[in-house]
Amino acid sequence: MLKKLLNFFKSDAATDKKPVALNSAEVGAFYNNTTDKFLEVYGDIIQAFRTNNVYDYLDYTIQNAELKDGQKILDAGCGVGGPAYYFASKLNVEVEGITISDVQFEKANAAKASKTLLGKVNFTKGDYHDMDRIYGADVFDRVVFLESFGHSNNKPLLIEKAFKVLKPGGVLYIKDLFKREHPNAEDGILIDKIVAEIDRAYCYHVADLHEVLATMRRLNFIILFVKTPEVKVGEFEHLTISNNFQELFDIARIISWENYIFPVDFYEIKVMKPPFDLSQQKHLYFLNRPEVIAP
Ligand SMILES: C[S@@+](CC[C@H](N)C(=O)[O-])C[C@H]1O[C@@H](n2cnc3c(N)ncnc32)[C@H](O)[C@@H]1O
Repeated sequence: MLKKLLNFFKSDAATDKKPVALNSAEVGAFYNNTTDKFLEVYGDIIQAFRTNNVYDYLDYTIQNAELKDGQKILDAGCGVGGPAYYFASKLNVEVEGITISDVQFEKANAAKASKTLLGKVNFTKGDYHDMDRIYGADVFDRVVFLESFGHSNNKPLLIEKAFKVLKPGGVLYIKDLFKREHPNAEDGILIDKIVAEIDRAYCYHVADLHEVLATMRRLNFIILFVKTPEVKVGEFEHLTISNNFQELFDIARIISWENYIFPVDFYEIKVMKPPFDLSQQKHLYFLNRPEVIAP
């Protein structure tokens, strides 16, 4: 009986792993068709939550993801390369960008000629769910997903892949929107409806924070923080661009805040792959603050 129970906890049933057909080709087709529209409205930084001067937000990203000289960084879901070029223009880093869209891949490469970089940037057209096969294991100091993680329809797999490609002590940083908890049943129905519209319009699978964190803990990622991005009111872009953009995708604009129910929250999640072998160094298990264990 005990053996049976233990086997159950080792099985897929215990980890909720169901085989899922990946939606990557669909996402690639979506961006092949819509990248020009995105570029018109957003420029080469395709992120909805941003500051009026979007580079202030990227500086904030550099600070919070702790991007530093000498690092090898994977920008997973890199768009047309705007963030990757910015990071490599400020820092002597090596950035690998991956996008599922051929159109974005071509545009990202074409932009290289006009850039002056301190570091290096390289792009791959591929599926981020394949990142371990493409780049190998224990390669990156940072894996960042900047409003790209939510496209995945198999987030446990994606998080596992990020774990594999990170070096021990490497950091996974995600900035994205997450489904809001239902304050009450009535609002819950509305939130479900709006989230389904967002998913349909943007080829998205808005993430559930609890599921994401549970997967990270299951893999022994060390949680460094989960927080709402800290942007000053005067600097916040207030989603004006996104709101204008909504119409293009057939989603209602926010006309008035009265009766408006926010369907999502934006969060930053920062987690670290343990820098030590947990099975060998159990005495370090609780000493999981980076300043204590970082080499
Ligand atoms: C909203 S855009 C964000 C782009 C970029 N992070 C930025 O800040 O400009 C989402 C990006 O995720 C990428 N993406 C989505 N699913 C992907 C997948 N399966 N493999 C690789 N890239 C993917 C898309 O190609 C697109 O570049």
